[in-house]
Amino acid sequence: MRVLHNVSFIALLASGCSDPTDGSFSGQELYPGNPSGARWYSSEQVASGSQIFETNCSECHGANAEGMYANWKQKLPDGSFPPPPLDGSAHAWHHPRSVLLEVIENGGLALGGKMPAFRAVLNGEEKLAAIAYFQNFWDDETYSQWEVMGGTR
Ligand code: HEC
Repeated sequence: MRVLHNVSFIALLASGCSDPTDGSFSGQELYPGNPSGARWYSSEQVASGSQIFETNCSECHGANAEGMYANWKQKLPDGSFPPPPLDGSAHAWHHPRSVLLEVIENGGLALGGKMPAFRAVLNGEEKLAAIAYFQNFWDDETYSQWEVMGGTR
């Protein structure tokens, strides 16, 4: 089950993560923002996540999770995908938190990607803090779309 899930996850990444909201979708219409501004994480988690992200993630995903490749959807010459931005401008918001955690745990190396596994590097709290850090770059509209896609599920 787990293997199947990972395979389909990579297929999702490889296909540019087909966007069910492409085309006629207008986020504004369907998901009227996140007016309460309530998010699952605390400012302490964002602060500790900033250190964790700088040490473990920024070399590939950029200091502000902005990514390092303008064409992050385009395969590199070796056939792998570049690290995507995580600041809300790519599609990390398509994945509920459980899937984001799974990506951080397992990385993509075993499946032909480039991201190392952080299972043995970061504990559960540290992984959550890293997610809090990059989610804090998401605007309320992106955040509430993420909630519709599963959010903290
Ligand atoms: C050596 C480069 C590298 C490092 C370091 C790295 N990543 Fe990644 N990351 C990638 C690549 C490349 C992908 C795309 C999948 C793949 O090829 O493995 C990715 C994918 C992701 C995704 C999925 C994004 C999406 O839109 O589906 C998340 C979330 C993520 N990384 C978070 C992190 C976090 C958090 C850290 C630090 C704890 C981290 N990454 C460290 C290279 C890296």
